[in-house]
Amino acid sequence: MKRTKIKEILANEASDYKVNVKGWVRSFRNNQFIALNDGSCIGNIQVVIGLDADDATVKRITTGASISVDGTVIASQGKGQRVEVKADTLTILGDCDTEQFPLQLKNKPSLEYLREIAHLRFRTNTFGAVFRVRHTLAYAIHKFFNDRGFVYLHTPIVTASDAEGAGEMFKVTTLPFDNAPHNEDGTINFKEDFFGRATNLTVSGQLEAELGAMAFSEVYTFGPTFRAENSNTARHLAEFWMIEPEVAFNDIIDNMDLAEDFIRYIIGYAMEHNREDLEFLATRLADEEKQKPMNERSELGLIEKLDFVLNNKFERITYTEAIQILLDSPAYKKKKFQYDVSWGIDMQSEHERYLVEKHFKKPVIVTGYPKDIKAFYMRQNDDGKTVAAMDILAPGIGEIVGGSQREERLDKLTQRMQEMHIPTDEMYWYLDTRKFGTVPHAGFGLGFERMVLFVTGMTNIRDVIPFPRTPKNAEF
Ligand code: 4AD
Ligand code: MG
Repeated sequence: MKRTKIKEILANEASDYKVNVKGWVRSFRNNQFIALNDGSCIGNIQVVIGLDADDATVKRITTGASISVDGTVIASQGKGQRVEVKADTLTILGDCDTEQFPLQLKNKPSLEYLREIAHLRFRTNTFGAVFRVRHTLAYAIHKFFNDRGFVYLHTPIVTASDAEGAGEMFKVTTLPFDNAPHNEDGTINFKEDFFGRATNLTVSGQLEAELGAMAFSEVYTFGPTFRAENSNTARHLAEFWMIEPEVAFNDIIDNMDLAEDFIRYIIGYAMEHNREDLEFLATRLADEEKQKPMNERSELGLIEKLDFVLNNKFERITYTEAIQILLDSPAYKKKKFQYDVSWGIDMQSEHERYLVEKHFKKPVIVTGYPKDIKAFYMRQNDDGKTVAAMDILAPGIGEIVGGSQREERLDKLTQRMQEMHIPTDEMYWYLDTRKFGTVPHAGFGLGFERMVLFVTGMTNIRDVIPFPRTPKNAEF
């Protein structure tokens, strides 16, 4: 018999029909009631086995075991479920020794413990919900852009350029460590390396996306990016996924409008399609909040927070205004900030969080950052000091989007690259777009895991990517 997904059975109004269900046992009560889950939804189906069931088989129905059941969907006799499956035959597919099963060894396993057994944590309600929501968000992202005529461009993972000029990259090489070929001046001879030059894992697909935008007008990338920054925080990964739209003819205002529409759309899509998962995560978060002192608890629950974002425009301010708000804040006056505030600083997360969580209490788009703290490709404003950058700051997260209008004027771009010691000869292909039919254009990057954090209400970025890569950690 063909397998029916548990989600389908639970959603179906009907009863009194034959099914086959397969899944993993979540619990087994009174030698009779199995809670079975197949990952299709957060809910379990109750499977009821007859009291005459074979003893040897019953012994093998343990938490974690995988089973296949042929039976009949019937209206449930008990409380808590509308329908259940009355088993005719039950087959054990895979035994699970509960004495050794890591998920069974702790009573209420903490998120930290589950991180150590990330290969099994998908089988918990929390991670089931998180990764179904993650999937839906990824799908909604493609749908959003597809519906608007964007071309999905696959930009390279291995590159020879440093898009952000950040210099925190992983090298890609096949040269031997102990006997690498050297040039006469003692440096490594990358001409003998696999690609005939020094290469690294990409930090962003933006520069290549810009090349595509100069032909398709609207493109986006959605792929893994890598940063070798040694930041062991709850919001940084060494390997994360980024969505980067790039649009010809857009200016910084269009860019902000696109980012807002985009974020609202994907949140709305998850609210519509993953309601049960989000409600479960909302309850989980509310329980977690109860552990905190009153004054640190967030005012809104998860669903209310998402609804709020759907129904309210983001605040838009300039960097200069942001700095002024910080300087005028009680937090600054009472010396509550660890890092000092003055025009020109790269705002720390405590500053960003003050703006969104305490001052505006909603997502904020900050524009017009000092050029010295931003990348070379951002369009220079007429004041000579700032660039047409935009960061979106989200409550509980901080920076979730970084973007800008791009410098489309060849002379200004070349000059800025020289000032910042970016090799204009190696980057001839980037400069070519400014020589051959340049147009104003703009784009941004959304950190996918930070978005998943925001939507799921999880607090550590390691809990929203299946197998996190962070300093000193590349398990699984
Ligand atoms: O602000 P970033 O560095 O911008 C860029 O890479 C641009 N090239 C994007 C563009 O304009 N096309 O990174 C974009 C976003 C950040 O706002 C943040 O959400 C996320 O990527 N991000 C990280 N997420 C997890 N771990 C890290 N180490 C991250 N670094 C950036
Ligand atoms: Mg940034």
